[in-house]
Amino acid sequence: MKKVLVVYYSRTGNTEAMAKMIAQGLAEKGLNVDLKRVEEVSVDSLTDYDGYVVGSPNYFGTMASELKKFIDESVKYYRKIEGKLVAAFTSTGIIGGGGETACLDILKAFLIHGCLCLGFTRLGHYGPVSIGKPDERVKREIEEMVNKYSEIIKKI
Ligand SMILES: Cc1cc2nc3c(=O)[nH]c(=O)nc-3n(C[C@H](O)[C@H](O)[C@H](O)COP(=O)(O)O)c2cc1C
Repeated sequence: MKKVLVVYYSRTGNTEAMAKMIAQGLAEKGLNVDLKRVEEVSVDSLTDYDGYVVGSPNYFGTMASELKKFIDESVKYYRKIEGKLVAAFTSTGIIGGGGETACLDILKAFLIHGCLCLGFTRLGHYGPVSIGKPDERVKREIEEMVNKYSEIIKKI
């Protein structure tokens, strides 16, 4: 069974609500899922997984420093996590507030790791973006992500 880490930072709960929905969806697709706040994860566990789904609130158009710290520490595993499947998600304050660039920053870091990063053709192209608490639109974005992520990770 493929093993996936859903890792996120959240201060006021919006990104956390998304992370829980994503983890539940992936588990329902038959994946072995660990759901963890970034403060609880060591980069030493990165090699244990087949892929990661990574989320952060949008802070000034990028990821929160708590997640960036984790990613910076992950340099220890540079060239050791190549080919892992990665998708990103974010929670933001307003439409046009930088949610997409926050997702792209997460994906960019994992592209540099040589990971395989997912984009989407319907709804949010770079990953689900919730304006505040996740609503019905975000639920559909998460469903699209879960479907595509689980389908692809089972093939690689
Ligand atoms: C330090 C900080 C910076 C933020 N910067 C932005 C921003 O640039 N654009 C925006 O739309 N929202 C911004 N927000 C709002 C958060 O992205 C939004 O409230 C998000 O839903 C919080 O996620 P959380 O509940 O998972 O902590 C910012 C919030 C904080 C605390």
